[in-house]
Amino acid sequence: MISTILEQVRADLPNLQGPLPGPRARAIIERDARVVSPSYTRSYPLVARKGEGAIVEDVDGNRFLDFTAGIAVVATGHCHPRVVEAIQKQAARLIHMSGTDFYYEELVALAEKLDEISPGDVPRRVSFGNSGAEAVEGAIKLARYATGRDKIIAFFGSFHGRTMGALSLTSRRAVQRARFGPLIPGVIHTPYPYCYRCPYGQTPDHCAVECVKHIEDTLLKTIAPPEETAAIVVEPVQGEGGYIVPPQKFFDELARVAAENGILLVLDEVQSGMGRTGKMWAAEHFGIVPDIFTVAKGIASGMPLGATVARADLMTWPPGAHASTFGGNPVACAAALVTIELLQHELVENARVMGAHLMERMRQWPARFPLVGDVRGLGLMLGIEIVRDQATKEKAAVWRDRVVTLAFERGLLVLGAGDNTLRLCPPLVISRDQCDFALDTLEACLKQVIAEA
Ligand SMILES: Cc1ncc(COP(=O)(O)O)c(C=O)c1O
Repeated sequence: MISTILEQVRADLPNLQGPLPGPRARAIIERDARVVSPSYTRSYPLVARKGEGAIVEDVDGNRFLDFTAGIAVVATGHCHPRVVEAIQKQAARLIHMSGTDFYYEELVALAEKLDEISPGDVPRRVSFGNSGAEAVEGAIKLARYATGRDKIIAFFGSFHGRTMGALSLTSRRAVQRARFGPLIPGVIHTPYPYCYRCPYGQTPDHCAVECVKHIEDTLLKTIAPPEETAAIVVEPVQGEGGYIVPPQKFFDELARVAAENGILLVLDEVQSGMGRTGKMWAAEHFGIVPDIFTVAKGIASGMPLGATVARADLMTWPPGAHASTFGGNPVACAAALVTIELLQHELVENARVMGAHLMERMRQWPARFPLVGDVRGLGLMLGIEIVRDQATKEKAAVWRDRVVTLAFERGLLVLGAGDNTLRLCPPLVISRDQCDFALDTLEACLKQVIAEA
């Protein structure tokens, strides 16, 4: 008894002080409601004050285990000391000069590093922006410029960002596009290989890669002729759409169709890249070498940075064709260089090992919990699909949301993805104990939702 009372609060696990939200959090949320755009989607009242590793502390001193990583961003954990040091040193020396008009070494060094670690043995050039959406804008513009073609094939359920070009590819939810049109012309959507809910009603055994057949036999022969189609843009693991992992044969076929028709293969690695899947790039799981790929989120451990990385022979646009004042600013580049070093040193491997550890237990969940329809993912990009009935696969968005809320109330931060999927995307520094805490907590939440149903 006494030993329980005296037991030290573990700094690497959650610790809640009282009912949530606490008084300070409530006051800030009230202020937020008056002045901040109501278009933001907050799932629960977390008001963050500081972060360390995988722990986030709120303004009332409650400590949470962060299995969101600020939406798959803080790859090296919150405020990794090496990243903080790099940012502080760089900020004291040079915060901004604009790589658009001048040179500085940090930008060159990061482009060299991205060239070095890019998938495939292909020389690369890099154009920097400040976000995932900007990286996608750069990819759309470059694909059109390099091919002289205007059409772009994208996938249903995809999320590529919210600026007008990226939004034209995004097709995750109607609310993201409603009343913003007309969007850019020439974008054609096609079904994503969502095998748990195959758009063609197939089972994995009978799959004839109908998703790619549709592109080859229908789109390219009707509304997207190859001589007019610049690119196929695809997330190698669909992120916001529900953490969906396509089968190998999808990528084999997609790469073949793209190559045979001179269409560029553009991979959006904004969420799946930077080690999250247990390899530096999700592309490496499938052995695909993109012509262009986009990077953001995890690249700089939370500093705003995006990159459009292309085959060097494609990126031949002239001075003035594309640039950004802030893109690749020295502080973000310094953070990115240290982030990549830490990823290469041990964190990509930790993502693989911890992902396997989580999956080992989660794999049994469909057999243990009737509301878990599917468990899937790569590395630390894991999705749990919540259904009303495993046989009908009816989506249970309300139950998914309830799990998210219950987890928060127990000190675990998770978010949804897709209509009814729970996503786990912790920082890549996560430990085994923290994974076990998350698993125990989620199991308790699943049980409670079953009891309440
Ligand atoms: C795959 C993918 N691409 C692009 C974006 C847009 O990134 P940002 O919000 O930084 O503009 C996201 C964001 O979730 C994403 O998941």
